[in-house]
Amino acid sequence: MRYPALSIILSLLTLTACGGSSSSGDAAALADSGGGKDSGDMMKDSGGMKDAGGMDKDASPPPPGDGGATGGDGGGPGPTDVIPGEAGALWAFLTAKKYMNFKAEPEVHPSGGPHGKVRTWFNAILAGSLEKNMSAHPRGAGAVKELYAADGTTLTGWAVELKVQDDSAGGKGWYWYEVLSTTDDSKLVADGLGVQLCAGCHGRGGVDYVLTPLPK
Ligand code: HEC
Repeated sequence: MRYPALSIILSLLTLTACGGSSSSGDAAALADSGGGKDSGDMMKDSGGMKDAGGMDKDASPPPPGDGGATGGDGGGPGPTDVIPGEAGALWAFLTAKKYMNFKAEPEVHPSGGPHGKVRTWFNAILAGSLEKNMSAHPRGAGAVKELYAADGTTLTGWAVELKVQDDSAGGKGWYWYEVLSTTDDSKLVADGLGVQLCAGCHGRGGVDYVLTPLPK
């Protein structure tokens, strides 16, 4: 167990951790704060991505420069950096698996939370920051956590965190997103800045709200 203290917290909050069931009232309130609903609807209208499971369909790529990534020191934003910071574009990004060139944990493993199995992917900005043992990550740092069913192979959704400013500001400097479906983008658990459910737990350990250690 990598996070003994966290696992105690997790067991207390069994129903709310990433991937756990959530009250839809909370999710709606969280979604409101994100302001991402409109473009989410646009995606639905234009995409037709719900057919065929939506997983391997061609989704339109995020617009160039979207996500506000700065590339850390030196490199400009590129395919290994950019995570869209808005629900509609992020859903397209996730269902098209655009994070596949990120640095990944070697395999799916049981979560410290109550929701089965997970595998986390780090964008280049976050990976670079963790490699250098920075105590605070720069704007644009982010991670995508794949959520899997108990069989360890069926993808059931994603949890995402993306730093939108250099100051974490008690979690408000992070965009938090979680969806418990790969075909229905309305199954939101979180969509917004500083979502208390997420930031409250993530602020208790790890490095600047990031709990998963960088894989070798
Ligand atoms: C009760 C504690 C808890 C809550 C609440 C929680 N998480 Fe996590 N989260 C974890 C732990 C522990 C990990 C480390 C990997 C694992 O065990 O799943 C993690 C990992 C992650 C990761 C991978 C990057 C990292 O920081 O390790 C993302 C992304 C993530 N969570 C997003 C979210 C989002 C979005 C929410 C809110 C909907 C949320 N989490 C709520 C405990 C929590």
